[in-house]
Amino acid sequence: MGARLDVILSPTEALPPCEVWLVVDVLRATTTMTVFFECGGKKMLPVESVEEGLALKKSLGSGWLLMGERKGLPPQGFDLGNSPLEAANACVSRYEGAIMTTTNGTRALLAAASTGAPVLIASARNAFAAVDAALSSGSSIGILCAGRLGRVSLDDSACAGALVDIALEKEPKILFSDGARIAHSVWHSYGKNMEEALKDASHAHFLLGLGFGDDIRLACQLGVSASVPKLAFISGRWTVLL
Ligand code: MLT
Repeated sequence: MGARLDVILSPTEALPPCEVWLVVDVLRATTTMTVFFECGGKKMLPVESVEEGLALKKSLGSGWLLMGERKGLPPQGFDLGNSPLEAANACVSRYEGAIMTTTNGTRALLAAASTGAPVLIASARNAFAAVDAALSSGSSIGILCAGRLGRVSLDDSACAGALVDIALEKEPKILFSDGARIAHSVWHSYGKNMEEALKDASHAHFLLGLGFGDDIRLACQLGVSASVPKLAFISGRWTVLL
C-alpha cells in the first residue's frame, strides 16, 4: 500500500492510528525546540505542568534550564520563556538539558506519544528535514497540530499545509485525508507564504502584543534547519533529543 498522510487540525480530535507523528506548534513550542537543538541543546524534558517543571528543576539542579510559558510569558521561577530567540541567545549547549512546559505544544507532544507511535518535532524551520524523516519512518504519517486551547489554529494549519505540500513533492502518489486537504488548501490560499498566513493568525497577534515579533520572524523561516528532534522514553520519562 502507498504512503498515507493525515492532518489532525485540533488536538481534541480522536487521534487515528498511524506509524509516525509529526507534531506542530509553530507559534512557538516546536519552533523553540527546533532552535534549541539547532543551537546544540542536548536534551529536553517536556512536562505537563508548571509545578512539575519547578519540582524537576529542583531535583535536577542548576545544570538544567527550565523554560516555557503560560499566557505567553515565563512563569515565576523559570529561566527562559518559550521563545526561539531566547533559546538561540542562551548558550543552551552549556547545559545538560532543558525542562519545558507550554500551554498547548508540550501537551500535544505527550498526547501523540501516548499512542505508542514514534513522535518527531516539526516546524516551518525544519519542514523539509521533518518530512524526510517521517517518510523514512513509516508509510502512514499523522501530523498533529497543537492548536490553541483545544481549538484549531491558523498558524499550525498553515504549517501543516506546508508539510503536506513537501510530502506531495516527494511522494506524488501519497494519499491524503480530508484534514490534510484542508491544511494544504490553507497553505495555498496564502500563496505558500508563512508570513502572510501568520498576519491573520490570532496567536501571532497575541504574541506581537507581548513584543515577540522576532519569535514570529524565526518561526516563519521555512526549511532553514536540518534538526529533527524526536521523543524517546528514557529512564521513565519522555525525552526530546536528536
Ligand atoms: C503553546 O504551547 O501554547 C505555545 O507555544 C504558546 C506560546 O506561543 O508560547
